Amino acid sequence: MIVTIDGPAGAGKSLVARMLAERLGFRFLDTGAMYRAAALAALRRNVDWNDESAVAAVVAAAKIESLPDRVLLDGEDVTQAIRTVEITKLTRHTANNPQVRRHLVALQRHVVAAGNYVTEGRDQGTVAFPNAECKIFLVASPEERARRRHRDLVARGETIALEEVLAQQTERDQSDSARAAGPLIAAPDAVEVNTDGLTPEQVVDKLVSVARNKT
Ligand code: C5P
Repeated sequence: MIVTIDGPAGAGKSLVARMLAERLGFRFLDTGAMYRAAALAALRRNVDWNDESAVAAVVAAAKIESLPDRVLLDGEDVTQAIRTVEITKLTRHTANNPQVRRHLVALQRHVVAAGNYVTEGRDQGTVAFPNAECKIFLVASPEERARRRHRDLVARGETIALEEVLAQQTERDQSDSARAAGPLIAAPDAVEVNTDGLTPEQVVDKLVSVARNKT
């Protein structure tokens, strides 16, 4: 069975998707980590960001593995390296690149073919797994999302103002929603869950009941 979780940045997807996978006894795939690792691969090769084919070629040649507890790029653990503010900004160059998206979606399907999965991203219920048995679209207000993101970044030692996080998030929301390939959009058959004011445990309780209703 496949459970897809899509939604905007900061809606709390990663944490609850992970917790949901654990509760259901499923594996977990963080697809945002793949777009981030792809951006890191291109950055390290000094690729011209305006050259979409060159970016796609570097990504296709890289070995990107999004594992439950870490992310590997050509075998190197880049779990922390892909979470910086710089990589978060640069990731739009891989996320908005149709060739990169085709490649990473194929990789996601290959991984998920091997069992029960909770997959998390922007296009999981629409493009990657349109036939998934259970689709969830997580939403939260922009202010609450920015507060969460800011808290995470500060906890990781980054110095950044809340207003800056909110501004970057708005930019990313627009870029995610506007792209032609794999835009951020709820699948028609997705169940929308608003996480405002809920603890991760409360969100997961809701998602478990949504998922159990679909089995
Ligand atoms: O979820 P996360 O913030 O780690 O995702 C990083 C970026 O990757 C997002 O801004 C989004 O543009 C992109 N992404 C995507 N498709 C996915 C997952 C993430 O375009 N399935």
